[in-house]
Amino acid sequence: MSSFQICLLPGDGIGPEVTAVARQALEAVGAVHGLSFAFTEAAFGGAAIDAHADPLPAATLEAARTADAVFLGAVGGPKWDVAPKRPEAGLLGLRKALGLYANIRPVKLRPGLEDLSPLKPERAAGADLVIVRELTGGLYFGEKREGEDAAFDGCDYSAAEVERITEIAFQIAARRSGRVTSVDKANVLATSRLWRRVVTRLAAGREEIALDHVLVDAAAMALVTRPASFDVILTENLFGDILSDEASVIAGSIGLLGSASLGGDGPGLFEPIHGSAPDIAGQGVANPGGAIASAAMLLRDGLGLHEAGDALDAALDAALSDGLRTPDLGGGAKTADMGRAVAEAVLKAA
Ligand code: NAD
Ligand code: IPM
Ligand code: MN
Repeated sequence: MSSFQICLLPGDGIGPEVTAVARQALEAVGAVHGLSFAFTEAAFGGAAIDAHADPLPAATLEAARTADAVFLGAVGGPKWDVAPKRPEAGLLGLRKALGLYANIRPVKLRPGLEDLSPLKPERAAGADLVIVRELTGGLYFGEKREGEDAAFDGCDYSAAEVERITEIAFQIAARRSGRVTSVDKANVLATSRLWRRVVTRLAAGREEIALDHVLVDAAAMALVTRPASFDVILTENLFGDILSDEASVIAGSIGLLGSASLGGDGPGLFEPIHGSAPDIAGQGVANPGGAIASAAMLLRDGLGLHEAGDALDAALDAALSDGLRTPDLGGGAKTADMGRAVAEAVLKAA
């Protein structure tokens, strides 16, 4: 039996609630596919500030580094918004420390959910895209100065940083339609002009890649007017963050989207794209779909277990097509109901 070490970072708010479901889903897949998972839990984010005065304690980073894959729930919340060290700083530190420069965020309108998209069904229909977000550069990691009356956030990109994320986007596109939309703000930003030059140069002579460039403001509009026209969206850190929350509504709810952060020599990090949702935390009503989708990516992209990952994705589809709906999807199902339904669907499909 193949055995894998999974580091769980439940975090804050709904993070622990959806992490518990992801773990249950992985255990169900393991039982069916002959895989054994050893889970270790480590303190992270606000919970780690409370316990260790540090959002990313050294022991947590060590547990993450030495695992085969890392699963994160979510971090942050109003309790820590005034803390000198914020939970979010722990997340940025973890991404940087593990070298995870490529954040992959698939957005797909799952069959049967067309009516739940806030977009008109005819606009949402056929949406199936992947946002490839640069994750360790740009405004997030530039020089910062913060004073009472003035503040500064620097935005840096090197050609090498743009090249490596572009290569990832091209590889993903080559397995799909080959269409890549690079999103920037080249009419204003120097880093975007560098971005556009590098992406254009790398696409030259690549017959499998059909590249176009769209300014980020226009891309934000096009995403909700003609989402099905996109396939792979390649973009920098902040634009990718914003566009992925926007794109999530196409699929019905932010609670359904998962992500993989890859690129380092060590383990990948898998996390739903949503946050800690303080407004619904503790009620047991969070949609665990994004956590389950992230667990499926952990299997496929983190451990190379494609069949197991596809089985988990199919189980999520099955639970949704059976009509399971958490409140964000207009229903009354609880987080645990959805978790149970997905685990049962995994076992039933075996
Ligand atoms: P959020 O994503 O937590 O919530 C936005 C809205 O979406 C809320 O109304 C929430 O109830 C809803 N929502 C989110 N996930 C849901 C789910 N699984 N099921 C049902 N509804 C869901 O964003 P926010 O409120 O802006 O941020 C809250 C905190 O989370 C902040 O501290 C922020 O920094 C942090 N955050 C963390 C991550 C992460 O850990 N990866 C990501 C985004 C935001
Ligand atoms: C995300 C989140 C994070 C980001 C925050 C919490 C640092 O919004 O993962 O999308 O901006 O990357
Ligand atoms: Mn975000």
